[in-house]
Amino acid sequence: MANKSVIKNVNEHVGESVVIGCWVNNKRSSGKIQFLQLRDGTGYIQGVVVKSEVPEQVWDDAKSLTQESSLYVTGIIREEPRSQSGYEMTVTGIEVLHLTENYPITPKEHGVDFLMDHRHLWLRSAKQRAVLVIRAEIIRAIQQFFNQNDFTKVDPPILTPTSAEGTTNLFHTKYFDEDAYLTQSGQLYMEAAAMALGKVYSFGPTFRAEKSKTRRHLIEFWMIEPEMAFTDHEESLKVQEDFISFIVQSVLTNCRAELEAVGRDISKLENIKAPFPRITYDDAIKFLNENGHEIAWGDDFGAPHETAIAEANDKPVFITHYPASFKAFYMKPHPERPEVVLCADMIAPEGYGEIIGGSQRIDDPALLEQRFKEHNLSMDTYKWYMDLRTYGSVPHSGFGLGLERTVAWICGLDHVRETIPFPRTLYRLYP
Ligand code: 4AD
Ligand code: MG
Repeated sequence: MANKSVIKNVNEHVGESVVIGCWVNNKRSSGKIQFLQLRDGTGYIQGVVVKSEVPEQVWDDAKSLTQESSLYVTGIIREEPRSQSGYEMTVTGIEVLHLTENYPITPKEHGVDFLMDHRHLWLRSAKQRAVLVIRAEIIRAIQQFFNQNDFTKVDPPILTPTSAEGTTNLFHTKYFDEDAYLTQSGQLYMEAAAMALGKVYSFGPTFRAEKSKTRRHLIEFWMIEPEMAFTDHEESLKVQEDFISFIVQSVLTNCRAELEAVGRDISKLENIKAPFPRITYDDAIKFLNENGHEIAWGDDFGAPHETAIAEANDKPVFITHYPASFKAFYMKPHPERPEVVLCADMIAPEGYGEIIGGSQRIDDPALLEQRFKEHNLSMDTYKWYMDLRTYGSVPHSGFGLGLERTVAWICGLDHVRETIPFPRTLYRLYP
């Protein structure tokens, strides 16, 4: 009985007979030889079935195989410099597990709605698989970065009584007799955790009932939220650029084949190393006005503005010191210019938009109380958050990285819907 293996590891079995559980990706035949394009999730390999060298049953089984049929294939692994993986299998045996009829996703072009309706099957295609492998590598690199830098992972709640990022896009639900909301951001809880553990980060799902149908918005997305005690705005920017550089370099080192499978221009990623350029909100407004955009001081940026600023740079760019008027209640004002706050958004290159939002937090209890009033937020619900300023308040900063936008940028994808296995987009909850 041959040893079980997976396609990724066939290089360890040259000249040996192995069994691989796999699916048929595609098939070609030339009368006397059948070429099976096989995939098992770890990679792709061509299985060659030669009529004159196998029992009739094996030849007939090979003939019966259709796209996405499942099987155990047995064969000898050979080096094959002409194949993409460098290896091929000379098939000696086939155990058909399931013959598939009429697989809906054929090699021809399909529309987006059709593919989204079949997302559970679409995931099997080479490009979608590569995206998920890169997503997993980004997640691995994120955890490694924080472990190496002495952050403790803390998990904030998902059901919450309050909002962190404004009340207009909350997902409402009932919590027995009380009202509850799915979390928009774990930040407020991470501030509490930072006062207990120093440097912390969370990694979890977040929900925004945003009626925006853009290529950057999901209703459910994953956010990474570090929070650091005794850390000011400037120090936080340094962590952010080191963090993003580490992620991109990790993907470049560990996912070459997948970057190729998604068609990424790697030269655009090689340059992503700290430090990153910075521009203040004031200068960004000037730059935009000089470049034909009608926007006034006090207006928030839209996608075209972010893209214009990003296109002037070949690395992610920090836009710093936005007006307090349209930013979150918790951001600390600039000490000399209270109309702007100590915050930054990191804008990815090539038009992928904001990937990080972060700031230094208000540490003065009186100012925080004033902000609650200005934002019409009930002091009762936020009493615990005020306590963080009442008992041993310290300067602290943090930020939130959007995982799906980061995956979209690193993979060079047109839309965030391909960055997450089962996207929740406006009006789509299926599959
Ligand atoms: O800028 P945001 O709203 O910041 C916060 O939530 C802060 N509490 C983070 C913090 O300081 N701890 O969101 C952070 C990031 C954005 O930069 C973006 O990458 C991503 O989360 N994001 C979304 N990604 C996909 N779909 C959406 N609807 C998103 N909304 C935000
Ligand atoms: Mg933001």
